[in-house]
Amino acid sequence: MAGIPLTVNGKAQTLDLSPDIPLLWVLRDHLGLTGTKFGCGVSQCGACTVHVDGEPMRSCTTTVGDVAGKRVTTIEGLAPGKLNAVQSAWIAEQVPQCGYCQSGQIMAATALLARTPSPTDADIDQAMSGILCRCGTYPRIRRAIHRAAKGGAR
Ligand code: FES
Ligand code: FES
Repeated sequence: MAGIPLTVNGKAQTLDLSPDIPLLWVLRDHLGLTGTKFGCGVSQCGACTVHVDGEPMRSCTTTVGDVAGKRVTTIEGLAPGKLNAVQSAWIAEQVPQCGYCQSGQIMAATALLARTPSPTDADIDQAMSGILCRCGTYPRIRRAIHRAAKGGAR
């Protein structure tokens, strides 16, 4: 079996794994990147969201073979050694409650701001609606995205 070439958080590697394994399993169990969470396993909650070539993607229903040759970024690789604007805004707005959904929220929010630097509330609702938060942190998520869009100001 040929290895699967993959760049994860900027590191190119070849994985000797079955192409059918969910990307989420590979990230968490094979690469030790446990910041990406398992919520539902069926593409319904968004807790497992990572970036593939810069676009948000559910890693629970994406196989590692689907992303062969692509760039995968997880929460650990978003801004290594520092915080990106979204992460800083998350802290300023004290967004998390239990925290379980939050890496998926931050990955989705970062992808939104990359393509829409000044999103409206409607843009935010559309981009974030698929990332479920059982703790109901949605108002703080929206405030944090607006804060990040303004470079940290409210
Ligand atoms: S764990 Fe992937 S969408 Fe819920
Ligand atoms: S902070 Fe608890 S599920 Fe979102």
